[in-house]
Amino acid sequence: MIPRHVAFIMDGNGRWAQELGLPRNQGHRAGTDNLKRIIKYARTKGIEVLTFYAFSTENFSRPLSEVTFLFSLISEYFQREIQEMIEEGMQVHFLGDLSLFPRPVRMVLEKTQQLTEKGDAIRVNIALGYGARAEILSAVNALLKEGVEKVDEEQFASKLYTAGVPDPDLIIRTSGEQRLSNFLLYQSAYSELYFTDRYWPDFDTEAFEEALTEYGSRSRRYGGIEEK
Ligand code: FPP
Repeated sequence: MIPRHVAFIMDGNGRWAQELGLPRNQGHRAGTDNLKRIIKYARTKGIEVLTFYAFSTENFSRPLSEVTFLFSLISEYFQREIQEMIEEGMQVHFLGDLSLFPRPVRMVLEKTQQLTEKGDAIRVNIALGYGARAEILSAVNALLKEGVEKVDEEQFASKLYTAGVPDPDLIIRTSGEQRLSNFLLYQSAYSELYFTDRYWPDFDTEAFEEALTEYGSRSRRYGGIEEK
């Protein structure tokens, strides 16, 4: 069984670089190359949605040199890849508070979203300036503003950045850490979690395949009885 939606916490870029005696930023560069490889592979597997945790609200407190490097890496990536993304039918969405990013970066992101909006082969969500608690609070505040007295799950989900997207079936975190770190806390209620010791730049298509096989062997019960 292939998951419809796979989400990734791309961890371990820094350690990958350090272990090779390279500057941390080289790890982020290698991590970016890997993102492309994983998207291409997911498309061949028929996965409908991918979500990548690329920059959390907490990441803004990293050293300025790393933050600015990541900003330029991200905007260069989308400028470079946009044509191929359109050709491959990718629909790119950014989840998070883009107003936290400098204007030139934000403009690249908004343009990417606009130019890929007709893509129907695969949806790719990139979480940037994202934090799940902030997302939940902003949904609550939006509902309060509408003056609602009571909400149901459907209404609530429609206020999240992931509105209209199925919840992640599988969440993969690389680099040996075993936590969600403020990622998709509401949407992950029934997600299968998969942790691997590999650093993100080393999480290749074979490792992805292994994760998909493991996912296929799990029985998802959603609190009820056996689904398969
Ligand atoms: C975590 O590794 C990784 C990040 C905070 C950044 C992830 C970003 C990318 C892979 C680039 C994304 C690019 C695009 C185009 C969206 P870490 O630096 O925390 O590694 P460490 O835990 O080993 O220090």
